[in-house]
Amino acid sequence: MNHRGRDSRPFLFTIESSSKVWVGFVKQTIVGDLNLLNSSFMEHTILVTGGAGFIGSNFILHQMECDSAAIANLDKLTYAGNLRNLEAISQERRYEFVHGDIADRGLMRSVLNRRKPRAIVHFAAESHVDRSIRGPDDFIRTNVDGTFALLEEARAYWESLNGSDRTEFRLLHVSTDEVFGSLGARDPAFSETTPYAPNSPYAATKAASDHLVRAYHHTYGLPVLTTNCSNNYGRFQFPEKLIPLMILNAHNHKPLPVYGDGQNVRDWLYVKDHCEAIAIVLARGRVGETYNIGGWNEKRNLEIVETICDLVDEIAGRRGGSRRELITFVKDRPGHDRRYAMDASKIERELGWRPRETFESGISKTVRWYLKNEDWVRDVTSGGYRQWIETHYSS
Ligand code: NAD
Ligand code: TYD
Repeated sequence: MNHRGRDSRPFLFTIESSSKVWVGFVKQTIVGDLNLLNSSFMEHTILVTGGAGFIGSNFILHQMECDSAAIANLDKLTYAGNLRNLEAISQERRYEFVHGDIADRGLMRSVLNRRKPRAIVHFAAESHVDRSIRGPDDFIRTNVDGTFALLEEARAYWESLNGSDRTEFRLLHVSTDEVFGSLGARDPAFSETTPYAPNSPYAATKAASDHLVRAYHHTYGLPVLTTNCSNNYGRFQFPEKLIPLMILNAHNHKPLPVYGDGQNVRDWLYVKDHCEAIAIVLARGRVGETYNIGGWNEKRNLEIVETICDLVDEIAGRRGGSRRELITFVKDRPGHDRRYAMDASKIERELGWRPRETFESGISKTVRWYLKNEDWVRDVTSGGYRQWIETHYSS
C-alpha cells in the first residue's frame, strides 16, 4: 500500500506490474485491466518520475495549478518520497500516482503504453551527496541504471508514435550543477559548455545519466532536454540537506553542524523558481539543448546558517542567547566541493526565464513553512531519519 499520509479521504492509487494493474481507493480496491484509466481526459499526460520528492512534488503542484495536462507520478517512495506533499491534489481526476521503480522496465513500458504521455519529466534520483559517500550503490542503481531503463523504454515508446505525437514528444532530464565539479574563488560561473568534472559519487552518477540522455538524442534522435540546476531550497525538502536541517535543529536548540570552515559557496534557488524554469524549458526549450538554471545567488554556508539562526530567533523567539551560539564546526565532508556558481544567462536570453524570488524573501518563507508545518516534520523525521542523523553526525 502506497499512501503514507494520515488523511483518510479516498485516494486514487495504482500498483502495477508488467501484466496487471490494481487501481483503487484507500478504502476500496478494484482489480481491472490496463484500459481502465485510459480515458480522453488523460490524453495530454505528463509522466513525472520522482514526483513525491522535494522538487518533483513542488513541480506537480505547480503544473496542476498552471496547466491543464494530466499528471502521472511514478515514484518508488524511498525515504525521500512523501505522498503527503501531494495531498492537496491526491483526489483530482487528472492526477494519478503509480508506485514503482524507474529501473523496472516492464512497469515503465506498461505505464507509457497505457498513459501515452506527451512528455516525461525525469526527477527520480538518489540526491544526497553525504549518502552517496557512505553508500554509492543505490546511486548507481537509480541514477545510472534507472535512467538507462527509462531511456530505453522512452525510446521504444517514442518510436511507436506517429505524426504530431512523435514530433511534439519531449523527455526532460533534471540534473545538477554538481556535474561541473568545483570552482575556485575567482573562476567564472559554470556555463552550458563547462567540461564535466564530477567529484562525488552523486555527481558522477548524475553526470553519467546526463551523458546517456545526450547520447540517446545524438544516436537515436530521442527529443530530449536537459536542465542543470544549482542548490534548491523551499517547502518539502527532506531535512538531511543543509537548509531544512539547520532550521529544525535551530528551532529545537540542537547543535548546527557546519562542515569544515563553513566557507564553501553554493548558488541557492527557491524551488518554485526552479519549477517555473522546468515548465518553460519543457514548453519552449530547443530539443537536444542543455539549460543551466541558477539563482544568481552565491552564499557561503556559514552565512546561510547565521541567517537561519536570526530568522528562527525572530519568529520563534529567543530562549536565552542567540541561536548562532549553536553553530558547531565539524569534520569536513570528504572531497567537499568549494564553490558552485551558475551562469544562467542562456535560459534568460533564449526563453526569458529569471528567478522571481530573492534569497531574503525565499529563506524567510522557507523558515516560516518549516516552523508552521510541524505534522509534516514529525512525519518525515521518524526512525530512519533519526538513525541517519545519529550515524552521520556521530562519526
Ligand atoms: P529527492 O531526493 O527529494 O526526491 C527524489 C525522489 O525520487 C523521491 O520521491 C524518491 O522516492 C524517488 N526515487 C528515488 N529512486 C527512485 C526510483 N528508482 N524509481 C522511482 N522513484 C525513485 O530529490 P530532489 O531534491 O527532489 O531532486 C530531484 C531531482 O533534481 C534529482 O534528479 C536531483 O539530482 C535534481 N536536482 C536537485 C537539486 C536540489 O538542490 N535538491 C538541485 C539540482 C538538481
Ligand atoms: P547539501 O544541502 O547536502 O547540498 P549539496 O552537497 O548538494 O550542495 O549541502 C549544502 C552545503 O552545506 C554543502 O557545502 C555541505 C554543507 N553542509 C554542512 O555544512 N553541514 C551539514 O550538516 C550539511 C547537510 C551540509
